[in-house]
Amino acid sequence: MDRKLNLNRAETFSFINPWIRYFLFFFSFLFWVFSLLIIAIGVYAKVQKATDTVRDTFLIDPAVILIVVGVVMFFITFCGCIGALRENIRLLKTFSLSLTLVFLTQLAIAVLGFFYSDQTRDALGKFVKKAIVHYRDDLDLQNLMDYIQKEFKCCGWNNYTDWSWNLYFNCTLENPSTERCAVPFSCCTPVPGEAVINTMCGFGVQTQNYLDATRTIYPVGCADKAVMWVESHLLLVGALALGMALPQIAGIVLSQILISQIQDEISSVM
Ligand SMILES: *[C@@H]1O[C@H](CO)[C@@H](O)[C@H](O)[C@H]1NC(C)=O
Ligand SMILES: *[C@@H]1O[C@H](CO)[C@@H](O)[C@H](O)[C@H]1NC(C)=O
Repeated sequence: MDRKLNLNRAETFSFINPWIRYFLFFFSFLFWVFSLLIIAIGVYAKVQKATDTVRDTFLIDPAVILIVVGVVMFFITFCGCIGALRENIRLLKTFSLSLTLVFLTQLAIAVLGFFYSDQTRDALGKFVKKAIVHYRDDLDLQNLMDYIQKEFKCCGWNNYTDWSWNLYFNCTLENPSTERCAVPFSCCTPVPGEAVINTMCGFGVQTQNYLDATRTIYPVGCADKAVMWVESHLLLVGALALGMALPQIAGIVLSQILISQIQDEISSVM
């Protein structure tokens, strides 16, 4: 074929859609910056943390999880970003394949968590139990438990007597702690119009029956409240899942389109 004719054709016509190419580039770049942020937060949390009780509670340090997620995301989005910019098929294929793997892994976890909801609940219960046991040892765990109990208006995992798992709140007679049979202040229901907050409102609650406890604290355990929360926020949960899945699916589809367009372009000039 005439070389000059070929060149002219390449200048005016391309199989590669610039919108798809720059869309993929821009989105990968956005998540690439986001991954750097996640790594930075993870490293900061790791450096800040002096004690290891949080790591012992969650088996793996949450800061390490952040760093690993950030690094994986960094490499995937880097492939997408540079692959789209340089029209590099190998990078785009790596991007597409790793994104597919990540997506399928998340899907598998979600499906398993749904079908094995009892086991999921037990596993979560183990974490909360450890958080209750180490409540006084680590400020982060204390803040986490206080936040959960206040936000979900609940106390303990099964119910408020779970606080006996903690050395300070344990309700056995021999316990010398001043907080024996108490529950933390975060279990307390707010009293409307109360001028001075009664931080001792949880004292002795573990010895009370359900009805008496209802007057001062949230009597329902956080496990039941969490199930209720999910059931009443199904739309939000679905939207969140979709919000996570859509960018991944879009990335996989767009990179596949771009790959085939680049291949068309290559075979057209050969
Ligand atoms: C709290 O939960 C435990 C374990 O599920 C149960 O044995 C106990 O009866 C419950 N107590 C109250 C007051 O509901
Ligand atoms: C409370 O402490 C006693 C004595 O140390 C222990 O035997 C018991 O198991 C503890 N209670 C709970 C619920 O862990």
